[in-house]
Amino acid sequence: MSIQKEINKRRTLAIISHPDAGKTTLTEKFLLFGGAIQTAGAVKSNKIKKSATSDFMEIERQRGISVATSVMSFDYKDIKINLLDTPGHKDFAEDTYRTLTAVDSVILVIDSVKGVEPQTERLMEVCRMRKTPVIIFINKLDREGRDPFELLDELEDKLSIRVRPLSWPVGKGFMFKGVYNLYDKSFNLFRPNKTTLDDNLIVVPDLEDEILEEKLGSEPLKQLKEDVALIEGVYDAFDRQKYLEGELAPVFFGSAINNFGVKELLDTCIQVTPTPRGRETDRRMINPGEEQFSGFVFKIHANLDPKHRDRIAFLRICSGKFERNKFFHHVRLDKSLRFSSPATFMAQEKNLVEEAYPGDVVGLYDTGNFKIGDALTEGENLVFKGIPSFSPEIFKELINTDPMKTKQLEKGIQQLTDEGVAQLFVQHLGNRKIVGTVGELQFDVIQYRLLHEYSASCRFRTLNFFKACWITSDDEKKIEDFIRYKPENIAQDKDGNLVYFAESEWLLNKAIENNPAIQFHFNSEFKVN
Ligand code: G4P
Repeated sequence: MSIQKEINKRRTLAIISHPDAGKTTLTEKFLLFGGAIQTAGAVKSNKIKKSATSDFMEIERQRGISVATSVMSFDYKDIKINLLDTPGHKDFAEDTYRTLTAVDSVILVIDSVKGVEPQTERLMEVCRMRKTPVIIFINKLDREGRDPFELLDELEDKLSIRVRPLSWPVGKGFMFKGVYNLYDKSFNLFRPNKTTLDDNLIVVPDLEDEILEEKLGSEPLKQLKEDVALIEGVYDAFDRQKYLEGELAPVFFGSAINNFGVKELLDTCIQVTPTPRGRETDRRMINPGEEQFSGFVFKIHANLDPKHRDRIAFLRICSGKFERNKFFHHVRLDKSLRFSSPATFMAQEKNLVEEAYPGDVVGLYDTGNFKIGDALTEGENLVFKGIPSFSPEIFKELINTDPMKTKQLEKGIQQLTDEGVAQLFVQHLGNRKIVGTVGELQFDVIQYRLLHEYSASCRFRTLNFFKACWITSDDEKKIEDFIRYKPENIAQDKDGNLVYFAESEWLLNKAIENNPAIQFHFNSEFKVN
């Protein structure tokens, strides 16, 4: 089969949500439809339960599960769907952001009772940044949720995206009757059903059909007619182009646990979601259909067995064909590498991959060659754009508590930060090591893993910084003056880029205001521009 044919039958997407909105449940139903699993409960949630936020063993256990569910591939109606998993816990948000760089579209799950939640807003910010097409699934219609019109307004308001309902609920909670599909005018009658994949589709030529009155009752039907008239009056017809540009999100309603509205979502998904897209690099745009292979690493996972320090690097294929045992060019290291056991992971099962195509993700066993963002090609030197590190928000000084193990600590912290667990900075004055993360939990993970995987012990001292941002300027002198003025607030990241640490929002704004010749960057994208 030609590369183009392989591309046309692939979709690579992620389901994202604020924890507890129903991401895992929806994922599981997708896999059931795709025949990838046979029973509900086969996919374990990789969320770290709230009760165990500092339980290291729990973290390790969850990390193990998340390798197995990193990429779940299944076939649905001749389309190969690669579903990339994202951690739900907010402390691992950066992991999620990076995973979003490897997908071509997302499904955002919203809890109909809670509406837009904080993590939903942040995830959407990342999608907007990358103009990722978004489909919204409003879940838990079997609960007494919010008014659907109110939810749509909130989505537009808080997520800064235009929405277009493609299905519409009749009733909610105990009175939930089902969902009307505005696209093909079918009605899906609700019957709680947690175990099978049967549907109860009633297809009606229009809303005047008698069967609807019989099934819904006259009041709910009247309400539906009014709602539909309002929707058709207020919202423009669904425009796929606008969806593909990330400006317009189609909205579906349903109940994942009851397997309700899921099939409609999946059917629409394969019709509207984009096939694997091209990727920008510092040199040129890479088109998926090119003969020459290219791909980038977006996630690195340490092996769970502390005796073996090898890791798994997850590579998204961007163009051409990946082949097992073929030599590829590691751009950053200027080195030829080949992979004898590239793998996919699925519900605890590991499979050897012989070849893979754009949109696919393969797991490569790695002994320390890879860093997040690394490119593999057939010889071309390029750096993929759009795989940023974000400025962290919690900062602590790393203090070595066992001088005999200094080397191990050094190696451990370098490797863990290569994996993207946290970011490492070295302070300009005094060479202190500063670890920056987006969540408290990562410090526990680092301390635990340094001890168990590298036999190094450390403690952390809290630093009172509010934000770190990268600084650049065309005027060397201005940067030098700035460093001289605030030496204790300046550090270098692992690549030697200068970073400014601000103690407060006010001080940060002041620094920006007083130094117009200096650019302050809040993610690392400037490095590849
Ligand atoms: P997450 O991955 O987004 O964190 O959410 P997850 O799917 O784990 O779902 C969170 C909770 O919401 C689960 O309940 C799940 O059963 C429930 N849920 C998912 N979809 C629906 C739905 O359509 N209706 C209702 N009423 N509930 C739904 P839990 O009690 O936290 O876990 P569990 O004990 O059921 O596994």
